Amino acid sequence: MALLKVVDRDGNEHDVEVTVGFKVMEALRELDYGISAVCGGMCSCATCHIYIAPEWVTKLAAPMSDECELLDELAYKKETSRLSCQIEMTEALKGLRVTIAPDE
Ligand code: FES
Repeated sequence: MALLKVVDRDGNEHDVEVTVGFKVMEALRELDYGISAVCGGMCSCATCHIYIAPEWVTKLAAPMSDECELLDELAYKKETSRLSCQIEMTEALKGLRVTIAPDE
């Protein structure tokens, strides 16, 4: 397991356990304050939108083109936006800090 720091839409920070090898989305969708992840990780809904803490952005693999295209359609997109279904939890990402983006 790895610890994920999650800031909810009210600005409260939570420690969330994520299984290494699972997508970050899979942990976030289980939370009351989490995400809906409507498409189940198929990179087609963007309801798993999160912001990565700036100090972590360069530690993640760059997004693929389909993720970039979906992010470009979002009103609340920022420089640090990612789709959590496209981020696999690894040992190197222990302590990753993310903020759940507003509902579109
Ligand atoms: S869960 Fe639908 S795009 Fe991530």
